Amino acid sequence: MDRVTLPIQIAPSVLPADFAELGKAVRDLQTAGVDLIQWDVMDGQFVPNLTFGPDVIAAARRHCDLPFEAHLMVLTPDVMAAEYVKAGCSRLIVHAEACTHLHRTLDNIRSLGATAAVALNPATPASAVENVLDLIDLVLVMTVNPGFGGQNYIGTMECKVREVRNMITAAGLGDAINVEVDGGISAATVSGASAAGANVLVAGSALFKHPGGLAAAVSELRDLGTAAFSA
Ligand code: DX5
Repeated sequence: MDRVTLPIQIAPSVLPADFAELGKAVRDLQTAGVDLIQWDVMDGQFVPNLTFGPDVIAAARRHCDLPFEAHLMVLTPDVMAAEYVKAGCSRLIVHAEACTHLHRTLDNIRSLGATAAVALNPATPASAVENVLDLIDLVLVMTVNPGFGGQNYIGTMECKVREVRNMITAAGLGDAINVEVDGGISAATVSGASAAGANVLVAGSALFKHPGGLAAAVSELRDLGTAAFSA
C-alpha cells in the first residue's frame, strides 16, 4: 500500500464528558492538543441511546476554535443535516445503513457547505462506499457496534480498514480521503488500526480516563498512531 501523507488526527468523542460542563470539556480538549471534536449524535432509533441535539452543539461552539464533526447515528440524516451544519459542524458523518439514497444525502451535505463522510457499522462491507468516494473526505470504520462508549475494540475490523484504505489509494484519492476509526481506540489498540490505514482516531474513554490526564493521553495516542501509520 502506498504510504499517504495525511496526518494522524485525534478526534475525541465527548460522550464521556460531564454533559453539564460541555463548554469546559471542549476547551480542555483544545488545550490538550486534539485536532477536532467529534459529537456522537444519537436519536434513540438508529441506536438505543439519545445524546446531542443541534442546540447543545451550538452552545459548545463558542467555547472552542476547533472543527466540529457530527457522527450522525440517526435514522433520518437528511432531515437533520442542515441543523447540525448551522450549529457549527463542518463535517457530517452519515451511516450508510441509514441512507436509502446515500449519494443524494452526501451531495446534499456538500450543498450545505459541510464536508461529507460515511460511517460503516461492523457488518457493513467496505464496498458500500466505493461509488461515493468522489463526494467524501472521510470514511469512518466503526470498531464497535454504535450506541455507547467504553465498548471493546473489534479487532477484525482492521481488515476492513485496510480494504477501505487500499480502495481509496487505488482511486487516486489517497491524500484526499481520511480513514477514521471509532470505538475502543486506546494505547492498546491504536497501532493495529493505524497500521491498517486509519489516520483519524476517535477516542472517548481512553482520553477521559487516562491516569496522566487529557494531554498525556492525546500525546500517547498520537505518537503510537503516527509510528504505526507511517511504518
Ligand atoms: C459508539 C461511540 C463510541 C465513542 C467512543 O457509538 O461512537 O465509539 O465515540 O467510545 P470509546 O472511545 O469510549 O470506546
